Amino acid sequence: MDFDFDALVERRGTDSLKWDKYRGSDIIPMWLADMDFLSPPAVIAALQQRVAHGVFGYTTASEELVEVVCARLYREYLWAVRPEWLVWLPGLVTGLNLACRAVGHDGDEVLTAVPVYPPFLSAPGYSRRNLVTVPLIQTGGRWEFDFRRFERAITPRTKLFLLCNPHNPVGRLFTAAELETLAEICEKHGLVVCSDEIHCELILDGHRRHVPTATIRSGLLDRTITLMAPSKTFNLPGLGFSFAVIPDKDLRQDFRQAMAGMVPHVNALGYAAGIAAYRDCRGWHTALLDYLRKNRDTVEAAVAGMPGLAMTHVEATYLAWLDARKAGLEDPAGFFETAGVALFDGKHFGAPGFLRLNFGCPRPLLVEALARMRRAISAQAGL
Ligand SMILES: Cc1ncc(COP(=O)(O)O)c(C=O)c1O
Repeated sequence: MDFDFDALVERRGTDSLKWDKYRGSDIIPMWLADMDFLSPPAVIAALQQRVAHGVFGYTTASEELVEVVCARLYREYLWAVRPEWLVWLPGLVTGLNLACRAVGHDGDEVLTAVPVYPPFLSAPGYSRRNLVTVPLIQTGGRWEFDFRRFERAITPRTKLFLLCNPHNPVGRLFTAAELETLAEICEKHGLVVCSDEIHCELILDGHRRHVPTATIRSGLLDRTITLMAPSKTFNLPGLGFSFAVIPDKDLRQDFRQAMAGMVPHVNALGYAAGIAAYRDCRGWHTALLDYLRKNRDTVEAAVAGMPGLAMTHVEATYLAWLDARKAGLEDPAGFFETAGVALFDGKHFGAPGFLRLNFGCPRPLLVEALARMRRAISAQAGL
């Protein structure tokens, strides 16, 4: 079956957070991380069927959903997840915040590497923990951990490491060797690792495979909280369906305790969409990755021709991380917004001077946005 990812679906006027921020203006929104594609036909059909039933009472995860998720994790990663390890969540950001509350005590430290998706930076404070950041470094054209600096940042009060893999915004799929080193350090210092793997099915370098952090060393399994969801891959973030995998019983209990009375059930439509996405959308997923790969190549080629802008190769995710520090712009995000393209300001990720561009959109829209950017930056450079 063919899927038409080139189709421009009108999202203005649909209360889309990404589009309606620029309501009434000719600005192409490429800031927020949802895609402008229709969800897979099988997901839409499952939702229609669920809606046709017409009763929307409290809903639980079906046995089939549990089986589908466990089978998928085994098939993709040879990870034998037991059903009781799964904790259903209405969102991954919820999971990040719960991890901060479930591990350690007030005043303890939570470590993460910057730049990073903004909720990693806010979750520790919301949970009365202290945020400690270490910078990722750019070496050999890619972003990496500085392991020595990472280990030096750990103190007796550091209890939790928040990892993003694949990484938003730098687009890295960390290698098994990199994960192994991180795991060794975390084990040595007794840290729990919360690994946000929401982008793990968006691997654009076809020869690479995602490795769940929890599986990298046997000793790490019981000190991990893995967060996953079909929401990025199948474009369902508005439906609020995700889950945590927590093998250790005590850690899982602490996590559930942090949820008590605060975190709502996953909604009926989220479950319906989630199971269809994981069970029935293999062809769509393959076609999506092909399409995103070409979009990624289009962005990389275009940015190479933009004076003052640079980027590293995007191994995974549909997000490009642009370095605008040499462009001579006081406010890079404002500059491109004026030129008709809304990018996410790097200052929110702990990296002023950078911009995040979401290329999960029909190619004609992407090409138009890149042309606007190129015209504006060339004019600025006097070319
Ligand atoms: C790394 C990462 N985690 C979590 C989320 C958001 O998850 P949710 O919408 O399920 O809270 C995003 C969305 O962009 C993300 O990139």
